[in-house]
Amino acid sequence: MNFLKFRTMTKEQILTAGTILSGDNAEEQLQKLLEFSGDREEIIDYIDGVNVIQSLQFSLTVNEFFDMLPDDNKMDKPFNQDFFNDIAVEFDTHVKQSIPLFGQFQSYVSSFIADKFQGKSILDICGSTGELGRQLIFGGWRGHYDCLDGSPEMRDVFNSVTPQNVREHLNFIMAGFSGGWKEEYKGEEIHIPEYIGVNNNHSLAVEVLGFQFFTKERLEHIKEMKRLAGNCLFFQKFSTQDDSQWQENEDLKNTLHKSLFFSEQEIKEKKEVVLDNMRDYLYNQNDFTSHLESEFKYVIKLAQIGNFAGYYCTNDVSTLPDYVNPYLLDNQFTSTETKKRK
Ligand SMILES: C[S@@+](CC[C@H](N)C(=O)[O-])C[C@H]1O[C@@H](n2cnc3c(N)ncnc32)[C@H](O)[C@@H]1O
Repeated sequence: MNFLKFRTMTKEQILTAGTILSGDNAEEQLQKLLEFSGDREEIIDYIDGVNVIQSLQFSLTVNEFFDMLPDDNKMDKPFNQDFFNDIAVEFDTHVKQSIPLFGQFQSYVSSFIADKFQGKSILDICGSTGELGRQLIFGGWRGHYDCLDGSPEMRDVFNSVTPQNVREHLNFIMAGFSGGWKEEYKGEEIHIPEYIGVNNNHSLAVEVLGFQFFTKERLEHIKEMKRLAGNCLFFQKFSTQDDSQWQENEDLKNTLHKSLFFSEQEIKEKKEVVLDNMRDYLYNQNDFTSHLESEFKYVIKLAQIGNFAGYYCTNDVSTLPDYVNPYLLDNQFTSTETKKRK
C-alpha cells in the first residue's frame, strides 16, 4: 500500500479497502502511524506490516481519523524556495556574508550544544545544508543530528559535503515543517511531505532563520517545537514598532558588513527578490519573547545583531548555558535603541 495513495483516497475507499487499524492496540498503532517522523518508505512498510481490518473498534471516528492526518495542502510552497534551491551550493558562504556575526553565532551555538547536549538528539528545523550538524561533529560533539529541510537542492549539498563516516550521526529529512508542498526538481514535479514528528523524540529543536520564510504565525510553531523536543533554540530576523530604528539597523548591516562582499546593485537586487517579501513574515520581537515567556520558565537571550536575535528556551535548569557571549549581545551592528529590546 502506498502511503501517499492512502492519503489521497476518499473516506469511502479507505473504508472499503479496510485500512482502518484495529485489534487490541489499535489506538496505539494509529498514534504511532500519525506521529511517524521517518522516511515515507518506512511508513509504507509500517502500514503493510499492520493488521488491516474493516471494523472501527477504537474510539476515533473516521472523520476524526482523517482530521488527524497531515494535510499536504494546508501550506503553500514557501515563497523563497526557488531562491534557496538556486543558491544551495553557495548557501553557507552566502548566509555569513549577508548576516554579520552569523559564523560567530554558529560557533557559540555549537559549543553550547557540545556542552549541554552531548550524546543527545538534535532537530534542526529549516537546517538548509546541515552546516550546524557538521560544525557539531567536527567540534567533538557526538549524538544524533537531524537536518529537516524542504529543499531537494539543500539535500543534495548535504549529501555531497557530509563525509560518509559521520553519516551515522548526521541525517537529512526532506520534509516541510508545518505543511507539505509540491516542488520542481530536475524538470519533474515532486512532493515535499509534511514532517510528522514524535513527541520528545529529540532533546533540542533548533530554528535558525526558518519561520520568517513561510509563516506569519509564531505561537503555534513554538508550541510544536516544544512538543518535539522540550528545549528550543531560536534565531530570527524581527520587526519592531519603530521603523526608523529598524532601518538604522539595516543600514548598519549593509555599510559595515554586506558591502564588504556585495556591490550596491547586488544588495539592492537581494532586497527586491528576498527581503521585501520576507518583511511581511517578520514578527515583532517583543511579542515573540512574550510567547516564549508564556511557554518556558527560562528564556535566555543569546544574541542581538541589529534586527536579528537569538534565544534559548527551556524548563530544564540543567541545560542553561554556563556562558553567554557578551559580544553577540552588544555590538556595532545594533542601534542604541535596539539594545534595549527584550
Ligand atoms: C535561511 S535558510 C535557513 C538557514 C539555516 N538554518 C542555517 O543556519 O544556515 C531557510 C531554509 O528553510 C527551508 N524551508 C523554508 N520553509 C520550510 C519549511 N516549512 N519546512 C522545512 N524547510 C523549510 C529552505 O529550504 C531553506 O533551506
